[in-house]
Amino acid sequence: MKKILMTAMLIMAMVLVVTLSSQDVTYVGSAKCKMCHKSEKQGEQFPQWEARKHSKSFAALSTDAAKELAADAPDNPKCLKCHAPLAEKNAELKEEGVGCEACHGPGSAYKKMTIMKDHAQAVANGLIDYKSEDDIKKQCLTCHEGAHDKPFDFAAAWEKVKHPIPEK
Ligand code: HEC
Ligand code: HEC
Ligand code: HEC
Ligand code: HEC
Repeated sequence: MKKILMTAMLIMAMVLVVTLSSQDVTYVGSAKCKMCHKSEKQGEQFPQWEARKHSKSFAALSTDAAKELAADAPDNPKCLKCHAPLAEKNAELKEEGVGCEACHGPGSAYKKMTIMKDHAQAVANGLIDYKSEDDIKKQCLTCHEGAHDKPFDFAAAWEKVKHPIPEK
């Protein structure tokens, strides 16, 4: 019994160390995810994202419709909060809009193959852990709730943009 307790405490201490060191992780940009997340076998997450509007949300701030809402839209922090959420983390990532890491967390450490393959390790290295549909919905609502007074149908929206790894 004592041995089990000691082992448990040791594991907890290790998790803590990993968690603390993961605070150094940084945002690297969606292009860094492309290499491993573009094939049909992996689920084409990158091409799917690139084809949809999350990758164009910063560009949307330069349209006439955007100018009507705010003359300085591409530089307005209020608009950037949802349309270019990575801008304040890394100015170079402003133009990619709602990039992979806006939903998955800063990828500098978890993008390593050995870490990516192990969910617990990936989470300890900065990957956001979604435990349920409700967790996912909460993340979407940080931007979609009441945005431009438009209704948001989570189930339909998730169906549109979800990008699972195909069953083997
Ligand atoms: C070196 C290759 C590689 C790179 C680079 C990479 N991934 Fe992965 N990723 C993988 C592999 C392999 C898996 C695991 C697939 C499996 O378990 O079947 C994975 C799994 C994932 C998962 C599911 C993990 C889980 O445990 O739930 C997410 C989310 C993910 N990657 C996001 C990203 C993001 C975002 C980036 C860029 C910041 C990225 N990946 C970069 C190879 C990579
Ligand atoms: C709370 C998050 C949020 C904020 C803040 C926000 N937007 Fe949006 N914006 C969205 C979402 C979500 C959509 C997509 C709505 C939809 O299609 O259902 C959107 C859509 C748009 C569109 C339409 C894009 C298209 O492809 O047709 C424009 C233009 C736009 N926003 C401009 C702005 C401007 C300018 C600001 C700042 C004054 C701003 N937004 C602030 C979340 C936000
Ligand atoms: C960081 C803010 C943010 C988060 C988080 C976010 N979105 Fe969006 N989403 C936007 C913005 C901004 C747009 C509008 C982009 C445009 O029209 O240019 C948008 C557009 C969309 C669209 C319409 C575009 C299309 O390609 O059909 C869908 C569907 C959508 N989001 C679903 C989701 C779902 C589901 C989640 C949660 C898993 C989510 N979004 C999380 C900001 C966000
Ligand atoms: C709007 C938010 C959002 C964006 C943007 C986004 N993802 Fe995801 N992704 C999710 C959510 C939510 C899940 C489901 C929960 C999970 O598996 O972590 C998911 C799941 C995944 C998975 C695992 C699928 C599985 O079957 O286990 C991979 C791999 C992945 N995303 C890669 C990426 C890559 C690469 C990008 C950018 C090219 C990206 N995602 C962009 C929200 C997003």
